[in-house]
Amino acid sequence: MSEDIRNKISLRYATSEDIESIAALEPLIFIDPWSEEMIRGDIEAKITKYLVAELDEKIIGYLGYWLVIDECSINNVGVLPEYRRKGLGSIILEKVLKETETLGAKTWVLEVRAGNDPAISLYEKYGFSRAGLRKRYYENGEDAITMIRYNKDITVLAIESSCDETAAAVVRNGREVLSNIISSQISIHTEYGGVVPEIASRHHLTNINGVIDKALKEANTTLDDIDLIAVTNGPGLIGALVIGVSAAKGLSFATGKPIIGVNHMYGHISSNFISYPELEPPFVCLVVSGGHTSLVRMESYTKATLIGSTRDDAAGEAFDKVARVIGLGYPGGPKIENAAKKGNPDAVYFKRVYLEKGSFDFSFSGIKTAVLNYVNSERQKGSAPRTEDVALAFQDAVVEVLVEKAIDAVKSLGENKLVIAGGVSANGRLRNEFEKRCAEEKIELFLPEKILCTDNAAMIGSAAYYKYLEEGAGDLSLDAYADIDW
Ligand code: KG4
Ligand code: ZN
Repeated sequence: MSEDIRNKISLRYATSEDIESIAALEPLIFIDPWSEEMIRGDIEAKITKYLVAELDEKIIGYLGYWLVIDECSINNVGVLPEYRRKGLGSIILEKVLKETETLGAKTWVLEVRAGNDPAISLYEKYGFSRAGLRKRYYENGEDAITMIRYNKDITVLAIESSCDETAAAVVRNGREVLSNIISSQISIHTEYGGVVPEIASRHHLTNINGVIDKALKEANTTLDDIDLIAVTNGPGLIGALVIGVSAAKGLSFATGKPIIGVNHMYGHISSNFISYPELEPPFVCLVVSGGHTSLVRMESYTKATLIGSTRDDAAGEAFDKVARVIGLGYPGGPKIENAAKKGNPDAVYFKRVYLEKGSFDFSFSGIKTAVLNYVNSERQKGSAPRTEDVALAFQDAVVEVLVEKAIDAVKSLGENKLVIAGGVSANGRLRNEFEKRCAEEKIELFLPEKILCTDNAAMIGSAAYYKYLEEGAGDLSLDAYADIDW
């Protein structure tokens, strides 16, 4: 059908002689048609060009746009109702995009009725993404969606300082990592057996400028090459977050570059967009970090729906607390994983906590207490338990629940893609179990590279890119928040 029309249509630019016929079409196409005067103003001012599509010398569709320097604004797109869904919109749009691109356009913007799904899909097919919402923009009270298309790379300088890693990265177009610098404070906090917030903030402050410089240098870029400055603004340790946010605001103020705040959890999820260039939402994601254990469904790059979360301790937090109880110290996750490698699988068993049937919530405080009780009672009996055996039993109990609940969630939502994110996903045992079980269940599994599992700024640069395309940048009123919801 669309091939038919493509051969019969002729395209040309409207002249003053077409004003009347275009104005006559408006009421047949729109509920709030433009008047002849408005069309005349547009065409005669010669700023707006109208590309018209003719069939048997009759105009059946048109697109009005203007191009100023490198920005093209698409103002009026109309196709007679009887010619819709025949590919006419594509033909006109394609021609305008090509021509304006040749003339140097780098961005294209338009507004579309929020309820006009066919038009929105057409624009998305041609590389437009949602950039904002104008409430009650149309006369009938309907909202307008602003959509933007870019014909240039977007290079993001990203900063992360939510916990104990000072990190900066340069990421292009959400997926290409040009540099990823992480300055870890592990050796400093090890002395205290855990992260000391006040000390973390102080080290962020000392390190942040050097880390940013290094990220720019390693990416072979300067601030001039950066299109957007991104920073984690929560959730996390407030004093630590503030250092990153202040640095980003300072850079944005000094350079005039736009700034955007990123939710750390969306950052973790986005690490998968770097590891898997073909991965696209929707998918189910298990986020397992030091502060969160959540199952979400990613509806789009920027919108997660919460399916389940921990009712008490996060998985990573349980690793850290148990490591302390059995004398392994900080950082708990890697130390338990290492010790467990030498554990005897038949020596100890801890009960798995699945909660009520059908629930996708988690609870890990029980297992922490179970470990504590086991260690104490063994000590009372005078037989010191082997740390390696306890580490293995604990790790198996946590991993099994994470794996089975995540797989259940994928199946019960009728999905087939499972994405894992967060510091605990660096755990080798967890990775192996997910690989094994997902193969059995024929679920497609996505696990980020280990370096992208724990805190880093590349993942923030990826999340920032998608948020920017969808919502645009923020401004210097950006603040840090210890808790931010999904
Ligand atoms: O995502 P992340 O780096 O920071 C937060 O956003 O919290 O996660 C840190 C958590 C810590 O609790 C740490 O013990 C855990 O991830 N973790 C691990 C491993 N590496 C880090 N847990 C188990 N096995 C690991 N190899
Ligand atoms: Zn994290």
